[in-house]
Amino acid sequence: MTTTALLLGQTLSFDADPFAVPVAQAARINTDGGVLLRDGQIEQVGDGETLRAQNPQVPVTDYGDKLILAGFVDAHVHYPQTAMIASWGKRLIDWLNSYTFPEEMRFADADYAAEIAARYLDITTSYGTTTMCSFGTIHPTSVDAFFEEALRRGQRVITGKTCMDRNAPDGLRDTPQSAYDDSKALLEKWHGMGRLSYAITPRFSPTSTPEQMDAVGALWAEHPDCLMQTHLSEQVDEIAWVKELYPQARDYLDTYEAHGLLGGKGLYGHAIHLEQREKDRLREVGGALVHCPTSNTFIGSGLFDMAGLKAGGQRVGLATDTGGGSSFSMLRTMAAAYEIGQLRGTPLHAGQLIWLATAGSAAALHMDHQIGNLVAGNEADIIVLDLHATPAIAQRAARADDLWEALFPTIMMGDDRSIADVWIGGKRAQIA
Ligand code: GUN
Ligand code: ZN
Repeated sequence: MTTTALLLGQTLSFDADPFAVPVAQAARINTDGGVLLRDGQIEQVGDGETLRAQNPQVPVTDYGDKLILAGFVDAHVHYPQTAMIASWGKRLIDWLNSYTFPEEMRFADADYAAEIAARYLDITTSYGTTTMCSFGTIHPTSVDAFFEEALRRGQRVITGKTCMDRNAPDGLRDTPQSAYDDSKALLEKWHGMGRLSYAITPRFSPTSTPEQMDAVGALWAEHPDCLMQTHLSEQVDEIAWVKELYPQARDYLDTYEAHGLLGGKGLYGHAIHLEQREKDRLREVGGALVHCPTSNTFIGSGLFDMAGLKAGGQRVGLATDTGGGSSFSMLRTMAAAYEIGQLRGTPLHAGQLIWLATAGSAAALHMDHQIGNLVAGNEADIIVLDLHATPAIAQRAARADDLWEALFPTIMMGDDRSIADVWIGGKRAQIA
């Protein structure tokens, strides 16, 4: 049976990267647009009334002046940190030891993992995030729980077992061999099933021995189609510690590079305090830097150089980094990216922010031909934004002269009330 739907409203899609060409040229806006969905795919994007006339049998949902766009793509999260988000007063290493590791310990329990996976996906759906790339914990149960829940919802997600064999408490360490074996078994079980993808996941250099880095590097070499996710140069103290732990390394990135963990399908979370060699190598191989702005201010990590790194030709994604990040919301995350841009003297345009949260993050995940843009042939992961969701937002949007000015108050002040509807894989999702 074919399932079809026609969505009417204002539509927004991208023809190009708005950091590479002017926003007006990169973005395609139709104030009377339509999106035709068929069997989980976007079949056509065009003029609303034309599509309605051509498809008289198709059920119509008319969103009026609401904005229809691709669902948000969160390129770096830790779903197991859902229940300890917004924990007070620590910086990275103390924060990990005080709050994160004790919570991650609980994921040995499959029932707890299943409960949090469902809770996390309920919350993020209500915020309009339709795909995320999440760390698990060291426990294979954490990966099974997340994939099982996403499969049930027909959702495109990426996750992997977090590997760490040192500088973590008892009960939260694996070994080079078990990290390899468990990751391989999970990858073979889940990667490519439906909309699920496995990411090889060494947490970061301080929690892996060089032997473990070699083992997961070897696994990546055997499965080069998989993404590899980790953390890079988040805090100054962390970088100093990495240099002590890896005295031979030229820089932080080299602790990955020397062990087969630098590549075009690598995702390097944070990447704030980069040296020139690191930037050069990341650009050469096309690895993605993932900006996590609410985390960077919340844990006090530093100010990511979005404008400079994009101008330098880097692949960059945007992410919440839940629960180091202080929000599940990609709207709030865009607002934080804007604020960090301001602190660096380089404010980002609303179109650049939305691109980062959709097509840019999808490109970081090498999934830009499937998700992240409202174009024919992509999967039908779609959200509908109410640009007047609260009185405070509505009164500002009422003054707007164009879509970008109407959208910016929602980016800066919006939350789950701004998400009027969510479609996942062509089906209307349940939102709280
Ligand atoms: N570096 C290593 N692990 C983590 C984590 O869980 N969150 C953040 N923000 N940084 C990390
Ligand atoms: Zn992280």
